[in-house]
Amino acid sequence: MIVRQPSQPTDGPPERETVLHSWCVQTEWNAPTVVGGEGARLFTADGRTILDMSSLAECSNLGHQHPRVVAAIRAQAQQLCFVTSAWGAEPRARLASLLLDEAGWPGGRVFFTLGGADANEHAVKFARAASGKPRGWVITRERSYHGASYAAMALSGDARTAAQVDPASFRVLRVPPPYAYRCPFGTASAAECAAAAVRHIETAIGELGARKVAAVMMEPNAGTNGIVAPDEFWPALRAATRAAGTWLIADEVMSAFGRCGEWFAWQRYGADARPDAMTLAKGLTGAHLPLGAVVLSSELARALEPQMLMTGLTYCGHPLACAAGVAAIESYREEALIERSRRLGAWMLEELMRLQTRHAAIGEVRGGHGLFAVAELVSDRRTREPLAPWPQQHRSLGRLLEHAMDRGVSFAARGNLLLLAPPLVISERELAEALALLDELLGELTSNLAGEHRI
Ligand SMILES: Cc1ncc(COP(=O)(O)O)c(C=O)c1O
Repeated sequence: MIVRQPSQPTDGPPERETVLHSWCVQTEWNAPTVVGGEGARLFTADGRTILDMSSLAECSNLGHQHPRVVAAIRAQAQQLCFVTSAWGAEPRARLASLLLDEAGWPGGRVFFTLGGADANEHAVKFARAASGKPRGWVITRERSYHGASYAAMALSGDARTAAQVDPASFRVLRVPPPYAYRCPFGTASAAECAAAAVRHIETAIGELGARKVAAVMMEPNAGTNGIVAPDEFWPALRAATRAAGTWLIADEVMSAFGRCGEWFAWQRYGADARPDAMTLAKGLTGAHLPLGAVVLSSELARALEPQMLMTGLTYCGHPLACAAGVAAIESYREEALIERSRRLGAWMLEELMRLQTRHAAIGEVRGGHGLFAVAELVSDRRTREPLAPWPQQHRSLGRLLEHAMDRGVSFAARGNLLLLAPPLVISERELAEALALLDELLGELTSNLAGEHRI
């Protein structure tokens, strides 16, 4: 572990006493204060270096402080920081063209947002407007995450926020996911689980009445909540929504920009499986500045073209963020990061499978086709009994995360799922170091569980 000089202490009360931090109990907040970064590493105020195995929130795909993106932000700041989203801005137009190019959607349109949640909300608004169903139903999945603003929470099948919203009041219906390891339809294979999930959606559309359904919104393969849909799922869903005349929206907030080994995860299934719209954020600027987007296919764009667009936020398509987006896309291209993610992701998956043969606590390892993989922890591999009921986290996994941090590596977990999603620029050596540490810590976890007769 490289130890850096601590930065000068700042004046005033510590952050813990002044700031509310997201997704945590405030009295338990003990996260590091980060003062710098480079590649896959972050530098903390107390002089430590942390290897980032989750790209923070699966968003820093380009690593931290990517020089080309930082330079583009600086250059744009010198020229023009802001212009309203109702007027034109050069980096915005440039970024829209680049995105439509990579999607292969000539004649499409891009609406820029501030992040992922509002991209999803806008995608729903556009799908409803374009289908002439202003209150049309939207079908999403249980065990999904589409954001934490109110309508995005309604779209999300997320146990953590379930009590805060009534999806039906947002005209959202959630259906079971194609979660092959624990198939909600009780099927025996991944392909059957995918087919059953799509049949369920067809039935749901039929029961609501196709005339009343505006869209289906889902992640194409790897999901933020740790489910990786079988390859049969997305093409079958595309066929079903096409047959029903329902727009299909791909939430690509996490899965795009190489995370799933493609520019956009749906591309794994070929041009025929393209959605009608996709939402982006995170990797769009590599998290250097907040930015989201709804990319619309030409069919959806055409339907919207003559309509008054009754939406927009002050900072939509902020020029600084769009300039960062342009530099990010150029970097993915020039550094061949999408291909790199596919190659390193395959290696990471193999290594995790090797760990699975050594540690009984790993029930399943699944990969998202790029630098995204999940190890699902169980207390009994045969019965697949989870280490703790979803979405709780067993204390042994909490301890593993803490010990990893003490040793200079940050891993992410959701419930019992260990999520690996390092920046696409991580070196082979850094990745190997992190996996070797994981091997050691999983050994500790397994012996602790055996001591408690939990395994
Ligand atoms: C799949 C998915 N959709 C939407 C969002 C929400 O994005 P944001 O946090 O930028 O609002 C996230 C964030 O984690 C996500 O993973």
